[in-house]
Amino acid sequence: MDPNKRPDDMERITTPEQARAFIDQQVAACREQIGDKNVLLALSGGVDSSVVAALLIKAVGKQLICVHVNHGLMRKGESEQVIDVFKNQMDANLVYVDATDRFLDLLAGVSEPEKKRKIIGAEFIRVFEEEARKVAGDVSFLAQGTIYPDILESDGVKAHHNVGGLPDDLQFELCEPVKLLFKDEVRVVGRELGLPESMVERQPFPGPGLGVRCLGAITRDRLEALREADAILREEFGNAGLAGKVWQYFVVVPDFRATGVRDGKRAYDWPAIIRAVNTVDAMTATVPELDWALLKKITDRILAEVPGICRVVYDLTPKPVGTIEWE
Ligand code: XMP
Repeated sequence: MDPNKRPDDMERITTPEQARAFIDQQVAACREQIGDKNVLLALSGGVDSSVVAALLIKAVGKQLICVHVNHGLMRKGESEQVIDVFKNQMDANLVYVDATDRFLDLLAGVSEPEKKRKIIGAEFIRVFEEEARKVAGDVSFLAQGTIYPDILESDGVKAHHNVGGLPDDLQFELCEPVKLLFKDEVRVVGRELGLPESMVERQPFPGPGLGVRCLGAITRDRLEALREADAILREEFGNAGLAGKVWQYFVVVPDFRATGVRDGKRAYDWPAIIRAVNTVDAMTATVPELDWALLKKITDRILAEVPGICRVVYDLTPKPVGTIEWE
């Protein structure tokens, strides 16, 4: 039997009972696989890695070493939530690395999107590798949040920059407890493991994070304006009951300014671009018709609360022709 093939008769996990049965089965399987060894996990805070972390905490407790790399391009509150949920609530063995300065220093002056992606991806591996080396002697396994679509799309190799390229002397045996699950099943399992709804229902977030939404060469002040505006957008979408209904929604801040007038004086600040899309597979996407009052409320709040932003626009471009991200 191919361990990377979902058996034809495997039931779709939709109920808490099914999730509990899956959790019991995987806890036993992970215990069996890991024994008394240690296992390392790059914990981004996304649904997949969070569910794997919660499962492995249940299975092997402190033998799991979670590494959360904050590249400085996380959304507002995300790293704090990882620490709160995993360290404070689940008492996990969590290594938190604030690598903000390393990433932002490397990215200074770099405006080409693919170059930014490469720098972020490579530095992520470097930081994770440094942490892995510190514990390597004691670690035999590397856990990954691979899910079934990753296997289907990439022929068994997870196309994810986070842990793809560890050097040869750091080759661990893989532990991938959710690799036969689809995303909706991972969410059901996550809920049953007690993860907060905001984590379980988290919208997809690109590996390079806010780095590809702070257009052009990233500056700290513009990145901060983006983070604040994006937090307002997410909060208001949540209040309007749209979390989990609109597939992806975020703010983009370009690297040019627009003229405005604030408190009777001329302003020359950045625009904030609201992007919201619905899609099934991210290959094509449509733009939802948002409630005007909601758009107006978000606009008013961003203009009042975010220094450096003097204009808000809603991007109506479907994919194709536009991609979902701006870079
Ligand atoms: P595009 O912009 O290509 O995005 O229409 C499609 C989906 O992919 C996400 N995306 C990325 N995810 N690393 C990732 O892990 C990346 O470099 C990256 N670029 C885009 C995007 O957020 C959308 O969900």
